[in-house]
Amino acid sequence: MNVTLRQLRVFEAVGRLKNYTRAAEELHLSQPAVSMQIKQLESNLGLALFEQVGKKIFLTQAGHEMYQTSRVIDGQLYETEQVLEDLKGFRKGRLIIAVASTANYFAPKLYAAFKEKYAAVTLNLDVTNREGLVSHLESNDTDMVIMGLPPERIEVQSQAFLENPLVVIAPPEHPLAAEKSISMERLQEESFIMREPGSGTRIAMERFFAEQGADLATGMEMSSNEAIKQAVQAGLGLGIVSLHTLEMELETKRLVVLDVEAFPILRHWYIVYRQGKRLSPLADAFKEFVLNEAAGLLQQSMDE
Ligand code: PGA
Repeated sequence: MNVTLRQLRVFEAVGRLKNYTRAAEELHLSQPAVSMQIKQLESNLGLALFEQVGKKIFLTQAGHEMYQTSRVIDGQLYETEQVLEDLKGFRKGRLIIAVASTANYFAPKLYAAFKEKYAAVTLNLDVTNREGLVSHLESNDTDMVIMGLPPERIEVQSQAFLENPLVVIAPPEHPLAAEKSISMERLQEESFIMREPGSGTRIAMERFFAEQGADLATGMEMSSNEAIKQAVQAGLGLGIVSLHTLEMELETKRLVVLDVEAFPILRHWYIVYRQGKRLSPLADAFKEFVLNEAAGLLQQSMDE
């Protein structure tokens, strides 16, 4: 295949941003230079990679194939760059981490503590749901991922570092708020506000109800923990969220955790990266830091 690295970089940026002007800005190139690189690439491959519908551009089927490849190659180049930086003896560099939206309630505390030790580190962070995290692992474009359930269909290294209990939440005036040991039968009479289908919280919740042989009555669907908490406060239904997302609402008594028999659903947070990945010494230091110090650090901040 007759493709240059420069063409791949340009193609990856246009494919990701779906916009020639923004890709040109990001790459510090002129827009005609970007268009030219794409034209040359398409002519080398003998297939169109983009199609324009109205003002928008989309990847063609060939474009999608090429895009996957360009992300993997970009990820590997970045990995090698980090390893080479470290061979040069630098203790600085970039750390690219993706975390589950639910984990982002505690993750900033971890970065802050890590930055105290490694001040010269630049952190790049993507906060997304489980589906987004699996896609990061597939394209190997991050140093590591913090997620609630390692994927089964890709080979990964994963290590648990913290408990992640899922609890049932209700507004304080809810009739169940004062009850003790609420049964699963009683819980089935309530309607739940669910996270979106790509969410790990949702998968855990559905599996748990299935294991208990219970029906899950669902009402609305919302794509963030914040939206769920607001909706529960407004009395639109009950919710199931990670205890880590609730610090403020419990403190201000805007929500309560219901005392349901089989709860909490016990899960863990994991550090995950692709099997065989060569972690840079910096990424390795972050991993060790999280595994050894996260639980203590977060407990300490909850006690304060
Ligand atoms: P999520 O969190 O629900 O935001 O996808 C990930 C998880 O808990 O597995």
